[in-house]
Amino acid sequence: MFRANESYLKLPGDYLFSEIAARIQAYGQRNPDKAERIVRLGIGDVTLPLAPSIVAALHGAVDEMAAAESFHGYAPDLGYDFLREAIAEADFAARGARIDSDEVFVSDGAKSDCANIQEIFSADARIAVCDPVYPVYVDSNVMAGRTGAYCTVTGLWSDVVYMPCTADNGFAPELPDADARVSLIYLCFPNNPTGATVTKRQLQAWVDYANEHGAVIVYDAAYEAYISDPELPHSIYECDGARTCAIEIRSFSKNAGFTGTRLGYTVVPRDLRDADGVSMRDLWARRHGTKFNGAPYIVQRAGQAVYSDQGRRETCEQVAYYMGNARIIREGLAQAGYEVFGGVNAPYLWLAVPDGMTSWQFFDTLLESVQVVGTPGAGFGPSGEGYLRLTAFGSRDSALEAVKRIQSM
Ligand code: MLT
Repeated sequence: MFRANESYLKLPGDYLFSEIAARIQAYGQRNPDKAERIVRLGIGDVTLPLAPSIVAALHGAVDEMAAAESFHGYAPDLGYDFLREAIAEADFAARGARIDSDEVFVSDGAKSDCANIQEIFSADARIAVCDPVYPVYVDSNVMAGRTGAYCTVTGLWSDVVYMPCTADNGFAPELPDADARVSLIYLCFPNNPTGATVTKRQLQAWVDYANEHGAVIVYDAAYEAYISDPELPHSIYECDGARTCAIEIRSFSKNAGFTGTRLGYTVVPRDLRDADGVSMRDLWARRHGTKFNGAPYIVQRAGQAVYSDQGRRETCEQVAYYMGNARIIREGLAQAGYEVFGGVNAPYLWLAVPDGMTSWQFFDTLLESVQVVGTPGAGFGPSGEGYLRLTAFGSRDSALEAVKRIQSM
């Protein structure tokens, strides 16, 4: 009789956002009169429609697909040059970082890349993650059999190095001890879930650490468009030496509303080589070519439009709209006496839950009493206990309404 992959059997519970969706659905079934009132600030899903320049690019590409002379079949599996070149120029060269277009790998989104990147590292690679953390980094390593045993009491995996991010350290992870022997370090800034950011000096310290200890940083920069402070780095490649120790993952979901359109990319520089000189860029290209048939032509044309003058203007306006929501939520909840972090250079707000409640209890209380949905901090790791994450990606009305209802509690 066949057997399931035993690593998958180690996964505790459901994927966080599936669990939350199930709880909302169950609540709606139990309380059909209240289901329509639910304000969803849980998963970080955008709500504004695609910008006009992006829609025009999609329409144009669909028309091309409808004519024999301009039809496109399989996309190049690493991405069309027109998009890879636009990315290298606008996201890196314009910020003083040297990334060649053939070091950019276009994909169907940052989530897949975050989950898949671990495949090109050895089975015994030791990973380090922030706690709290976007669950995909850990879960994908659990599936790969890299994380050891799960402790149901602590909520920690035996073979993972956790870097606590708490109010005491300003939600900034500390460098792991040298004897932790980590080889794969996941960092995400602006941070999901805490909304914390990192200065260029702090990030440089991580790059120096990784180079010194022979580690790789997987840098998830999905939320870089939300940075307004000119002192904060948008890319890890703004730091000296990052080309020999860092992989960067980016998304079109949060800066341009592609959560339902699907587009992202990963940068693996040619200078990133393992202990034996193996090119990690070439390995990722090999993996991509084998397992992925390229993001759709029409979607890559839409991605290219994000970099046009009009596209930039329109997507910046969308980001400003969401950050307007963040300000409303931050100020409104602070007025109501809550301690709120994040939401300044990031679309996530990290709210300390009232004393004596766990984050899941507070989640239930908000849902039951005022029909507002957040994400319990404990779902992101043990150090997330005591917090609830709210997103700024809803409509203006939902931000105002959520604040009003929470204030009234
Ligand atoms: C989140 O809510 O953390 C994100 O939307 C999840 C994702 O981007 O996959």
